[in-house]
Amino acid sequence: MSLSVDFMGIKLKNPVIVAASPLSGDGDMIRKAVDAGAGAVVTQTIANEVRHNVRPRIAANSLGMQNIELYSNLTLEEWEREIYHVKEKDAVVIANILAHTPSEMAYIAKKVERFGVDAIELGISIPHGEGVELLISDMQRLYNLTKMAVDSVNIPVMVKFSPNVSNLTALAKVVEKAGASAISAIDTIRSILGVDIDKAKVMLPTYGGYSGEGIRPIALATIASISQAVKIPVSGIGGIENYKNVIEYMMLGASTVQLCTSLIMNGYGRINEILVDLENWLERKGLNSLDDIRGQALSSLKSFEEISIEPYIAKVNGICKADDCSKCVKSCMYGAISIKNDIIVIDDSKCTGCGLCVSLCNKGLLYLDW
Ligand SMILES: Cc1cc2nc3c(=O)[nH]c(=O)nc-3n(C[C@H](O)[C@H](O)[C@H](O)COP(=O)(O)O)c2cc1C
Ligand code: SF4
Ligand code: SF4
Repeated sequence: MSLSVDFMGIKLKNPVIVAASPLSGDGDMIRKAVDAGAGAVVTQTIANEVRHNVRPRIAANSLGMQNIELYSNLTLEEWEREIYHVKEKDAVVIANILAHTPSEMAYIAKKVERFGVDAIELGISIPHGEGVELLISDMQRLYNLTKMAVDSVNIPVMVKFSPNVSNLTALAKVVEKAGASAISAIDTIRSILGVDIDKAKVMLPTYGGYSGEGIRPIALATIASISQAVKIPVSGIGGIENYKNVIEYMMLGASTVQLCTSLIMNGYGRINEILVDLENWLERKGLNSLDDIRGQALSSLKSFEEISIEPYIAKVNGICKADDCSKCVKSCMYGAISIKNDIIVIDDSKCTGCGLCVSLCNKGLLYLDW
């Protein structure tokens, strides 16, 4: 049994990649990620011009974080030394690069290839500063930039997607047509973390990108849509906290995953925990490789029109004495759940089969077969 995967023709010892961020902001940090067991590391976005970061630029809440970081503070030339430093360790390094025009793209792509990176990720979907997010929605510009990167180098090119677009599958097909070897998704989501109501002031001084647990459902939907639209491999990013999240992404078609916020919040030890748990899970399931689960859940994902209206209703599996929990009773909008003689009872004539109570029951006592 092995966690190794083939991604864009590159053999990775495992599918867990450290995503572009300050965690991969220089050679020393990338080496730490590699030592922690990452299958590969994507550099912080490398641009042709250095723009110094503002302060403050990161704020978190219980579901994730908003950041207004732009990109690496190191120059393109300085990255040569950093990448050399990492490649001494024989690590798989993917350079995340930002360019605004095809000629700039060719210039940066060729340079990072010469520095020795294994692949390139186009970081063209950042939701703050720069206005590059507009770029990813413009099919012709996206095609031209991707094609230029692909034609300029002999290493694989992956394009990083934002969920902040309305024509996602059409855009995915455009980058596939332009010769990209993979698509990664998602970048952060345009956000305002919150307002300090005593000071009447936003938490960070401009719109930023939201990441972490809170964005996972959006990212999963993006990955499923892209996987269904194209044949090239997909790298899932967004709110990955544990091995179960990795499996979710893979079952929706991802070949690799990328982690950022959970590593910032919990440290690199999280990588090894995920790898050990993934191995144990594969063993428990009697599977040899993650290839066996890729895309498995996609067949359960239908278009809305395909879903039939069946007379499903919720059932209690055994007996629930409610104890100190009455989540299902409180949340059933149709008043179908009550406590009678200290046990949970569902009134079949009132249950509309909405399914909410089933997803809320932490003890797994409620079910609805669909
Ligand atoms: C502080 C911070 C800085 C980031 N910097 C970059 C970056 O330089 N380039 C990039 O493509 N994505 C960047 N990202 C986005 C992440 O790579 C990733 O797409 C996003 O955070 C979602 O994954 P997560 O929920 O695991 O954090 C950054 C995210 C954070 C939180
Ligand atoms: S499935 Fe919906 S309607 Fe039926 S009991 Fe549960 S919450 Fe109420
Ligand atoms: S949500 Fe589950 S555990 Fe809580 S009262 Fe209902 S059936 Fe019992």
